[in-house]
Formats: sequence, C-alpha cells, structure tokens
Amino acid sequence: MDRRGKTENWSSRLGVIFAVSGSAVGLGNFLRFPGLAAQYGSGAFMIAYFISLILIGIPICWAEWTLGRYAGQRGYNSSPGIFHALLGRPLGKYIGVLGVVIPVVIYMYYVYIEAWCLGYAWYYVNGQMNLGGEVEAYGNFWSSYVGATENGLTFARDQNQVVLFLLIVFTLNFIIIYRGLVKGIEFFCKFAMPALIVLALVTLVRVLTLGTPDPGKPEQSLLNGLGYMWNPGDVGTQLRNPQLWLAAAGQIFFSLSVGFGVIVTYASYLSEKDDIVLSGLTASSANEFCEVALGGMITVPAAFVFLGAAGVAGQGTFALGFKVLPLVFSKMPSPWLFGSVFFFLLFLAAVTSSLSMLQPGIAFLEEGLGLGRKQSVALLGLLTGTGCLFVVYHSKDLKALDTIDFWVGTFLIFVMASVIIVSFGWILGLKKGWVEAHKGAELRIPGFFKLIIKYLSPLYLLTIFVFWVLFNVLGWDYTTGKFTPAAYVLDLVGPEPNTVARLSLCWVAVVIVFFMILSATAGRRWDNQAGKRTVPTPANPLPEEPR
Ligand code: ALA
Repeated sequence: MDRRGKTENWSSRLGVIFAVSGSAVGLGNFLRFPGLAAQYGSGAFMIAYFISLILIGIPICWAEWTLGRYAGQRGYNSSPGIFHALLGRPLGKYIGVLGVVIPVVIYMYYVYIEAWCLGYAWYYVNGQMNLGGEVEAYGNFWSSYVGATENGLTFARDQNQVVLFLLIVFTLNFIIIYRGLVKGIEFFCKFAMPALIVLALVTLVRVLTLGTPDPGKPEQSLLNGLGYMWNPGDVGTQLRNPQLWLAAAGQIFFSLSVGFGVIVTYASYLSEKDDIVLSGLTASSANEFCEVALGGMITVPAAFVFLGAAGVAGQGTFALGFKVLPLVFSKMPSPWLFGSVFFFLLFLAAVTSSLSMLQPGIAFLEEGLGLGRKQSVALLGLLTGTGCLFVVYHSKDLKALDTIDFWVGTFLIFVMASVIIVSFGWILGLKKGWVEAHKGAELRIPGFFKLIIKYLSPLYLLTIFVFWVLFNVLGWDYTTGKFTPAAYVLDLVGPEPNTVARLSLCWVAVVIVFFMILSATAGRRWDNQAGKRTVPTPANPLPEEPR
C-alpha cells in the first residue's frame, strides 16, 4: 500500500496560478523591492536582479513545482513528506522540516506587518492620518503604532490598536485556511489578485500623472523620479559591490516565495496532466510584472516628486513605506483616497502571501500526524499565535522581527533553496527531473536550462552564500582584510549580547525541534502505512499507478 489517499486538488489551472502568484506577490513587491532598488542604485541592482532571476529564481521555481508534483503523485503533500519520498530514510523528512519551519516562522512576523497595512488603510479612511507636512510626525506615529520605542507598548491600554488589527488579520488568515485549498486559498486569491492589480494600477496612474507638483522645484519632476529609479548610475563600480548581489539574490527568493517550502506544497496538489512549466513561468511573470512594472514605478518616483532625492536616499523599507509614503500622500489631493487604496493594496498582497505560509504547516499536521482540519488549524494557530505575540511584545527597535527575518527569512531560505536545486539536479537526477517537469506540459523549458540547473544555479547559490556569510555574518572588510562580526552575530555571542535577539533564536530553535519531533512521528506513520516497505526513492520508485 502506498500513501495515495484522498487529498484536495486545485480546481483549475487558473486557480493554482492565482494561488502561487498570490503567494509571490506581497509586501516584497511593493515595499522591499523599491527600497532595495533605490538603496543600491537601480540600474546596477536591476542587472544583478535579472541575472539572479535567470540563474536561481526561475530554475528553482521549476524545480519546486516538479518536486512537489512528483511527491504529490506518491501521496505526499507536506515538505517533510515530499523530501521523505525524494531523499529516503532517515534524513529526508528532517531536511524537509525546513519547508515547514521557514513559512510558519516567517508568518509570525509577516502577519504583524500585514496588520500595520490594514490599520493604515483604516486610518486613512477615517481621517486619522492627517498628521501635517513633516516626516517626523509620520515617523513618530509609526513608531508608537508598532511599539518601536518600547517593548510591550503595543499591549498598553491606550495603545492597543495594532493588536486589534492583528487579531483581525490573524483570524482572517485562519478562516481562509480552514476552508481549504479550493474554497479557501483559491477562492480568496481569485478575487484578491485581480483586485490588488486594479488598486495598483489606480495608484500607478495617479503617480504617473503627478507631473511637477511644485513649479518652484522643476528638478522634482515625475520624469526625474522615474530616472532616479531606473537610470543606470555608475554600473561598473556598483556591480563590484558584493552586497548588491546578495540583496538582489535575496530579493528574488523572497519575492518569488522560492525556497520557502510553499511552492513544493502547492505543487503537490497538481496532477500529471497539469502544465507546470507554463504555470510556473506564468506565476513568476505575474510576480515580476507586479514587482518591476508596478512596485518599481509607484513608491520611489512618488517620493522623489515630492521630497526630492534627499527624501528618498537611504530610507529603509519600513521608513519608505510607513513614514515617507504617508507624507507623500498628504501632499497629494485627496490623500485619504490614495492612502487607503495603497495600504489596502498592500494588505491584500500580504494576505495572499501569508495564507501560503500556513498551508505547509497544515499539510504537515494533516498528513504527518493524521490530524483533522480543525485540530491542525487549532494547533498551528496556537503555535503561530504564540510566536506572533512574542514578536509583537518584543517590539523595541523591532528587534525580534529583525532577528528572525535575518536568520530565517534570509539564512534558512538560502539553505532550503540549495536543498531544492540539488535534489532536482543531482538526487532525482536532471534526466528524470526534466521528464517529470514536462509531463502534461505544452511549453518546453529551453535546453540551456539543463546546464543552469545542474551546475550554474548550485554554483551561483554557493558563491552568494559564501559571500553572505563573509560579509553579512562575519563582517569581512575586503579592503582592510579585517573581520567585524555583524550586529546579528554580536547580538548573540558578542560581549554585550542582546536578550531579545537570543530569545528570538531560542524560539526559532524550539519551533525547529517541535517539527523535528513531529517529523519522527510522521516518519513512523508513513513507514507503517507503507507496510514497512522501503520508502520510495528515485532509485527505488513506486510503481506508476493511476491516482
Ligand atoms: N513573496 C512574498 C512577498 O513578496 C513573501 O512578500
């Protein structure tokens, strides 16, 4: 007996494309991307960004779709199950745990930012965002709203609005996920995705018709704003900055939701009749359209037109989104309208992504432990709720959020992405992977991607990863040859460690151990179900039975 039981499947090709692009299009597209592009000099950043898209984004995306469907055909829908089927006993299921830990832990802080967006949209509608014409006012508002000045501030009696919004978005996510793949995720994304694109287009048209709002400052024109965002600067020098390459590669992962464990899970609900080559490419293209053509044309040009280059340069992602943009909206006619449209758009984009971070956890609890939907939702709700409260309580300087984002949202994603590409190219094997990817496909992957998937992607990933450790962790200054460990490391093991950073990593470790233990239990269950038969591996596959 194999593990082929009853699982839900996507209702249509369009449904799964909406769901996957919903997962991809998120805060990364409208906040993180413009922030990074502006920070690193857009022309050069875009070169590194597109090279990363071709060398790691699209190939790993196809690999995830293929591995997910391959294991799904053998009855596994959770990441530990998928890697149990692919890599075999005893390690596979533990490696696959990453594909549950990453999305579930990211959800714990992502949903908090989602709540900020809903709150801002609401404040615009009811006129609470008229804070004047200075960026400080918006900065102070944001700091106190998210509790950035003091731990526990968000729980204070007169300050608890963000917690209320958090409660709303948290519940909404779990209601949708409880309704299941088709009635929940697919249904929501089918409405939310077109809606967010319409809202983005409305905002874009507004930005593109800004002209030169202050005739006294002719240099602050829309054209110059677009130029600031898109003109190549000193590309030669900028491309020699390793940080730029790291930022571009990290953005590709974050934005496409690649290396999260989400796409493998979503793809496991597909059949061999589905064209995953086309679906993967369509979902990635939809994401790139939203990121480059919409996200890249709104935030930075709008801020430039009203505040000039000085108002944009050096602003981090949150500052740009939650301090600078509200100031920009205040200078437009009908600020409430464009403010609420923009932040509601961010909120919708965030929900379709956060939903996708819950499904890997639900899939694992259901198939690994045999829990029902209600129990899985309750258990995952309890776990993510606890983590979320931890992040929200430790809000001073957003320390918990930032620490977890660095170690899980960057470091572990690199690891998971490497596992995926190596599993496809070397463990399942390129030849077999290629055949699997093309089952049901009318579109063919160009042949040169074989070389990319087998050699270039792993090599590029390895190089990026080594640089990331050297520069962002160990703090190597290649001009002096000295190492000054990054604040993220000093927070943990420096002479003056930061308690919140340490606690944050302990919490991540607890989640990892929790899912490891569950994985061991799940492994026994899968073995029993297989009648103690050897676990299927690429070398020892299941007989090809119809589903
Ligand atoms: N891919 C999601 C985003 O861009 C996580 O926000």
